[in-house]
Amino acid sequence: MERILIIGAAGQLGSELTLALSQQYGGDHVIATDINPKALEKFDFCKTAVLDIMNQDAVRQLVKTENVKQVYHLAAVLSATGEKNPLFAWQLNMDSLLFVLELAKEFKMEKIYWPSSIAVFGPNTPKVNTPQYCVKEPNTVYGISKQAGERWCEYYFQKFGVDVRSLRYPGLIGYKSLPGGGTTDYAVDIYHKAIAGEHFVSFLRADSALPMMYMPDAIKATMDLMHAPREQVKIRSSYNLAAISFTPREIFESIKVHYPDFSISYEPDFRQAIADSWPDSIDDSSARADWGWKHDYDLKKMTADILANLPEYMVNF
Ligand code: SER
Repeated sequence: MERILIIGAAGQLGSELTLALSQQYGGDHVIATDINPKALEKFDFCKTAVLDIMNQDAVRQLVKTENVKQVYHLAAVLSATGEKNPLFAWQLNMDSLLFVLELAKEFKMEKIYWPSSIAVFGPNTPKVNTPQYCVKEPNTVYGISKQAGERWCEYYFQKFGVDVRSLRYPGLIGYKSLPGGGTTDYAVDIYHKAIAGEHFVSFLRADSALPMMYMPDAIKATMDLMHAPREQVKIRSSYNLAAISFTPREIFESIKVHYPDFSISYEPDFRQAIADSWPDSIDDSSARADWGWKHDYDLKKMTADILANLPEYMVNF
């Protein structure tokens, strides 16, 4: 039986993508792996395995024995966590990607998915409607690793025909996992605080706009890109992808409609500099033209959906 391997399945994106892939292909065809055994317990609808992506022998063995034909390589150290241990972040993010690309070549896999990010952009990038092709001088180790990773993806596609596909996600907002060390994760945490009846302290300024996306849109984009015929995927570094942009004040206002007593204060820390180096909004016209990308959720709709679902889901954390 041919299988899809998900690496880093228990993270923010993996928690939801694993379910979508299992629904599409059947749980028997999907292996969710993560370094954290406890976090794998939620995947009772597909195969699971504990896997450390840095243990190359173990990864190779799994690919061989399970006849893996597609890999979703989602394991990464994110922006804020990466700044605390830059060399480790570089090693984990880069070594693991190169190893997966090598395996894809060696085992002639069908397709590889690897997420990139708005973190590939930097302070000299045009901030509004950031184009697909422009100056990119990222100044976080996470951003540098994503930029280098994009170059490697395109290289493996061009030189070896590895069908690797990628999206530059904006900040992803979902309620099925806890914030995971990203700069945009304040916009996940804020809903938890509102529901718990607590005051929220934002580590970004009130007016700090960032590109964001609700998780169902991110899952749809990922599935659509992976299902697109090979020739329609014209960009082999990574596609710009956009949905909404908002500031801490705007997301707070959207929550206050439902929780009138909710309160916020602003205490910017080192993450403000990271946010300042990223775009306010993204031009994703290539994704829209090449494989028909279209988002569904605006801020109001996202907030209503999260506030309706998170309270019940919180018991899982
Ligand atoms: N959401 C990520 C972060 O903030 C960016 O890709 O690190």
